[in-house]
Amino acid sequence: MILAPSILAADFGRLAEQIAAAERGGAGVIHVDVMDGHFVPNLTVGPAVTRAVRAATGLPLDVHLMLSEPDRYVDAFADAGASWISVHVEAGPHLQRTLDRIRRRGLRPGVVLNPGTPIGALEELLTDADYVLVMSVNPGFGGQEFIPASLDKIRRLHASIRERGLSAEIEVDGGVDAGNARQLVDAGASILVAGSAVFRGGDPEQNARRLIEAAG
Ligand code: DX5
Ligand code: ZN
Repeated sequence: MILAPSILAADFGRLAEQIAAAERGGAGVIHVDVMDGHFVPNLTVGPAVTRAVRAATGLPLDVHLMLSEPDRYVDAFADAGASWISVHVEAGPHLQRTLDRIRRRGLRPGVVLNPGTPIGALEELLTDADYVLVMSVNPGFGGQEFIPASLDKIRRLHASIRERGLSAEIEVDGGVDAGNARQLVDAGASILVAGSAVFRGGDPEQNARRLIEAAG
């Protein structure tokens, strides 16, 4: 299991320090949430902050693009130091091209499903993605409650990836904490994103360690 702390919940005034603590606690990648105020009703960070995160850690950067036009920004985030880039199925009609563009830049492409989007929407894209990010909240904000139906969705997706003999990994994002981490891994998720559970309250190093232990 890879823990992917989301910096959205971190103290931005002490970002490098907080990332270093999460890294000491066992984080495997750093999750960067990029929102455009259009695809989702919130604004967050862009390439400049991504570059600063890149300089602050040796871990791979998992950049989650919540943008209406992800194609336009793939190069900017690749140049800023992204290692993985994921794009939403709901964000456009030419996703295969976007995934291909991410791979051609030498990065790992991922595809993201909102809670209301069925896994069937991925059918033709699964061979182009290294991982599928299953949203377990509606994207836009940290600190939301985990949607329980996400567990079954992960199970079904995991079964369909296996049946087809594919190797895409499953990442889950939203409301992940020490209380549900184990169930998520048992359902087939191998990458857990956690914002609040790592950075809100207490020490990020201990929080990260506790989550990894809870995931078994
Ligand atoms: C939500 C973001 C998530 C968010 C997770 O739109 O994609 O990555 O930061 O935060 P928590 O773990 O607090 O739900
Ligand atoms: Zn995210």
